[in-house]
Amino acid sequence: MAFHRLRSTICLLALCVTQTRALCGPQEGVPDTRARYLELCARCHGPEGAGDGTADLPRPARSFKDGGFSYGNTRAAILRTITFGIPGTPMPSHAGAVTKAELAALADYVISLGPERKTVSVSETILQITDRAQIVRGFLPPIIDGAPQRPRGLLIGLTSGASFEYRADDVRFVAVRQGDFVQRRDWTDRGGKPLLPLGKPTLVCAKGDPGPSFVAISESPQGMEREPLQARLKRTWTAGQDAGLHYWLQDGAGSILAKVQEQPQIADTEAGAGFIRLLRVEAGALACSLEFNTSYLSQDCGNPTAILEARSDQTQAHVSDRLQSDGLRRLVVLRGPNSMRVQSRSLRLDLEPGQVVEFEVTLVTALDANDDTLQSLLEQTR
Ligand code: HEC
Repeated sequence: MAFHRLRSTICLLALCVTQTRALCGPQEGVPDTRARYLELCARCHGPEGAGDGTADLPRPARSFKDGGFSYGNTRAAILRTITFGIPGTPMPSHAGAVTKAELAALADYVISLGPERKTVSVSETILQITDRAQIVRGFLPPIIDGAPQRPRGLLIGLTSGASFEYRADDVRFVAVRQGDFVQRRDWTDRGGKPLLPLGKPTLVCAKGDPGPSFVAISESPQGMEREPLQARLKRTWTAGQDAGLHYWLQDGAGSILAKVQEQPQIADTEAGAGFIRLLRVEAGALACSLEFNTSYLSQDCGNPTAILEARSDQTQAHVSDRLQSDGLRRLVVLRGPNSMRVQSRSLRLDLEPGQVVEFEVTLVTALDANDDTLQSLLEQTR
């Protein structure tokens, strides 16, 4: 289903970036880059890149005058930011609308607006993502002030510049960052030092300490009972530009209720930048009912203002639009089999023994959204 088609679209996009990076110097055949900048970027970043555009933004688009890019200072990182946008902020993706040569020229143009750059030598302990996804495991510092440390953390870095932080002791999706990947400070000083993720957080779930993703539900004479499930990491994998995890859901008595494969990806949509979690759940030997928590997607938002649904014989999709307190919209797309029950802050799956279901949870952030945007999201990620 959508799982595979989507994956190949995104691979293609990422491939464009790798190829673009091989070009350097002034680009032949690229239309006037200054004009392109004025057309596509100036309304937010200002005509001279001083961050003084006319668009009404919930947070300022940055000035390029001082150099120092928070989402990565290398040319490759800046190119990734322009290509894929920054999920969680108004910075849109441009992958669909702009050719790769133009994107490369825009990256050079943005760099040229700042002060002259000294060449930075990249420390040997910095892991950079070039053309393949990477996974590292180790001690992670608190993602934000007040969040717990993660003695057993895990980071998945993708070629788009997005990296995904998970807890590995009891698998939970913790945060998304954008920028460079990670510095292995544990490789120096006889180990013991935490890894240093280099990207800037764009989504932090439940203040960095989210609850379990999956809960088992059962009916009892007292009503509905919910038991949080432990998610035991079994293995991680990388294959080219993709990477993911396998974990088992285990109840308090130690029984394995289901096996899960999870793969995070970025979503390139017309509405804005975003990311997707692709999940594949395989029930164990017994029938079970599971609830998958989606509240982390809308923590900072009110109730949805619009919901669109589409159904076919096998699958269903839902798009909801929530206004965040900072004025950005969070568009959430849920897509899965018809049997999945979409609730306000969760999904319910009733599984037969051995049954396999695949579903996707997408978050897109956008400045504005109307019925057309929602409709296109409903169709686009399918
Ligand atoms: C709708 C408004 C908007 C448009 C259009 C836009 N940007 Fe942005 N951009 C932003 C915002 C807001 C941020 C800062 C995100 C943050 O840090 O919260 C940003 C961040 C960036 C960054 C990352 C800066 C860093 O610190 O790493 C780059 C590079 C960038 N934009 C380049 C561009 C280019 C080039 C274009 C045109 C092709 C463009 N942007 C179009 C709003 C916009």
